[in-house]
Amino acid sequence: MGQGQLRGVVALDGPAGTGKSTVAKRLAMVLDARYLDTGSMYRAIALAVLRAGVDPADEAKVVAVAENAVLVVGTDPRQPGITLDGDDVSSAIRGPEVSLAVSPVSATGNVRELLVAQQRAIIEDAVDHVGGIVVEGRDIGTVVTPDAPLKVYLTASAEARAARRTKQDSAAGRESTVDAALADVQRRDKYDSSRAVSPMKAADDAVELDNTDLDLSGTITALLELVERRGLRVTG
Ligand code: DC
Repeated sequence: MGQGQLRGVVALDGPAGTGKSTVAKRLAMVLDARYLDTGSMYRAIALAVLRAGVDPADEAKVVAVAENAVLVVGTDPRQPGITLDGDDVSSAIRGPEVSLAVSPVSATGNVRELLVAQQRAIIEDAVDHVGGIVVEGRDIGTVVTPDAPLKVYLTASAEARAARRTKQDSAAGRESTVDAALADVQRRDKYDSSRAVSPMKAADDAVELDNTDLDLSGTITALLELVERRGLRVTG
C-alpha cells in the first residue's frame, strides 16, 4: 500500500454530508485499518423500530426494541455492511423513512448507552488484533473514545453538504432535490446538535477540518498529514 499502518484510533465526527463515510472508509483502506460506521448502528435500530411498528418517539418501546435487536457490524472498509437479526440491512438503512426515524431514536439515552458499549468493544478488538481503526459518527471524540490520539471534526457549508447528498442520492437511484436535501441537512444538524444526550459537537482537542473546497483526495491528504504528524503511522 505504501502508506504504512495505522496504530490507534482516529475519531472522525461531524454533520451529515461532509463525505465523512467515504473519507473514513478510504482512510482506513489506505492505512490497512478497520473501519466503524456508528451511524449505521443507530440507523439499524431505527429500522428495527419501524419494522416492529413502534413509534420512534416512544422511548420505552424503542429501548425494548434496541435491547432485543442483534446487530453485527462489518469493520472491513472495503465491505462494511450490517445485519439486523441476521438480515443484511446495509441498503435498507439508507432509505428516507429510516433517515427520519433515526433522529429521535439516536436521541434516546438508553439506546446510546447500549450502542456505545458495543462500539467500544469493536474498537478495543480492532486495536488488539489489527492495530488501528477509523471510527466515524457524532460523539466519537467526545463520548465513545475520548482518549483517541487523533480526533477530527469534519465540516463543510450546509449548501455544499446538501449538493453532495443530492448527488449521492441520484447515484443510488433515490429521488432527491437540492432544496429537499438542504432542508434535511439543516433539520438533522439542528436536531443532532441540540439534543440533550451526547449532542453533536467537536471535542475540545479535535482538529477542525472544513472541506467545503476540498475534494475527496484533498481531504484524505489533509487527514494523512495529521495521522503522520501524530506519529500514528507505522511503516515497514
Ligand atoms: O452518519 P449518519 O447520517 O448515518 O447517522 C445517522 C444518524 O445517527 C444521524 O442523524 C445522527 C445519529 N448518530 C449519532 O447520534 N451518533 C453517532 N455516533 C452516529 C450517528
